[in-house]
Amino acid sequence: MSKNKVTAAQIGCGKFAWTQDLPNMSRSERVDLKWVCDLDLAQAKKTAEKFNVPYYTDQYMDVINDPEVDMIKIATSHEVHLPIIEAAAAAGKHIFCEKPMAMYDEEAYKIIRAVRRSGVKLCVDLNRRMAPAMHALRKKYLEHVNDPRHNPWRYVEKVREMLPDENFPHMNIRIQDESSSYGLAHLSPLTGGGEIIGESVHWLDLACWFFAPALPCEITAFGSSLLSHGIYLKFNNGASMTLDFSCTGTFDYPKEQFEVTAEAALFRCLHFVENTYHGMPDSGREIFALQEDPFPEMGSGLEAFIAKNFANVQHCTNAKNAEQNTPLIVDKGHQSMLNGFVDAILNDTPSPCDEIDGFRATFLARKAIESIRFRQTMPIQLEDITPCF
Ligand SMILES: NC(=O)c1ccc[n+]([C@@H]2O[C@H](COP(=O)([O-])OP(=O)(O)OC[C@H]3O[C@@H](n4cnc5c(N)ncnc54)[C@H](O)[C@@H]3O)[C@@H](O)[C@H]2O)c1
Repeated sequence: MSKNKVTAAQIGCGKFAWTQDLPNMSRSERVDLKWVCDLDLAQAKKTAEKFNVPYYTDQYMDVINDPEVDMIKIATSHEVHLPIIEAAAAAGKHIFCEKPMAMYDEEAYKIIRAVRRSGVKLCVDLNRRMAPAMHALRKKYLEHVNDPRHNPWRYVEKVREMLPDENFPHMNIRIQDESSSYGLAHLSPLTGGGEIIGESVHWLDLACWFFAPALPCEITAFGSSLLSHGIYLKFNNGASMTLDFSCTGTFDYPKEQFEVTAEAALFRCLHFVENTYHGMPDSGREIFALQEDPFPEMGSGLEAFIAKNFANVQHCTNAKNAEQNTPLIVDKGHQSMLNGFVDAILNDTPSPCDEIDGFRATFLARKAIESIRFRQTMPIQLEDITPCF
């Protein structure tokens, strides 16, 4: 592309678009936001006014038919990703799509075919892989596993050869979420598909990104395919990930915590605001700035974040009511994903999370749902996880 900016259109102007897409595109110097589109025309109009966007519509074909538009951002319910992507790809538009890319494998295959036939780029907003805290965690982990160094006081019963299993890294992900915050559309089998397909695609993708180039080879899931569940994902180099997702928690406490253990060390990420490292000489703590921070004077790190959250909501009657509180947002990588995709479009480089990544997250989520239904561990065939088109 010979330009130094992309002209963009937002399709779907709901809660997510208002908190991430529209602010992020508005603050990017390399994005001109020309259209907003929502099935609800009043919502499209209100969005255009709020974010100073020149055109609005309730018909996504209006934006797809505009020859000036280079990129569309989709933040609708899930079932319309396929028709929108097929139409946009046929019109030569690059596509930034919210997760999950697809609810079913067949939809994912059709999406891959559509973008590859048209030669457009696609990016799926499986954003955790772009969070600064996650990049720091992975860097520290790789430094250690490539050159393990331990503290002199490490307890070793007897110096011996390690068993193979003793060198397998593990990622433990704890999610505590509050289901009163879910719109029913996210749980409906027609429009959302529930929390494994709608939310856990994030952490399935994160584990694949973290342990790459290893590939997942086996998945076991338990609990509810709609709400609270657990997933154990095994990789072909022995690495594994356990996800514990509960929807009976509270927004008063941070939702996400990650712990990776490897080579007698522990790498922790506390809700994208603080990492701590243990078991090696250069252990310590790293702090990550918030994406939106109305209380910078209150400090940084996990405890400060909890205090800021309390300060932000204590006079509200509904913690997520944007009219009552100011945005307090940790950096989960949304802005970096947008910037990475704009780079990919302008410089013709690979998408930061492409259609195969999107397919793989959907495929693994469906396998997890199958595992719950059959009460069995499901093998993941190499040829299924590495499809060719
Ligand atoms: N990556 C993340 O961390 C993250 C976080 C939250 C939500 N999301 C994703 O964002 C998407 C939207 O979620 P939300 O919470 O904003 O939902 P929402 O219901 O608040 O908004 C969806 C909007 O899309 C509109 N819409 C539906 N079909 C449309 C169509 N055919 N044309 C135009 N507009 C259409 C609806 O009218 C609605 O306004 C979902 O895919 C969700 O998974 C991602």
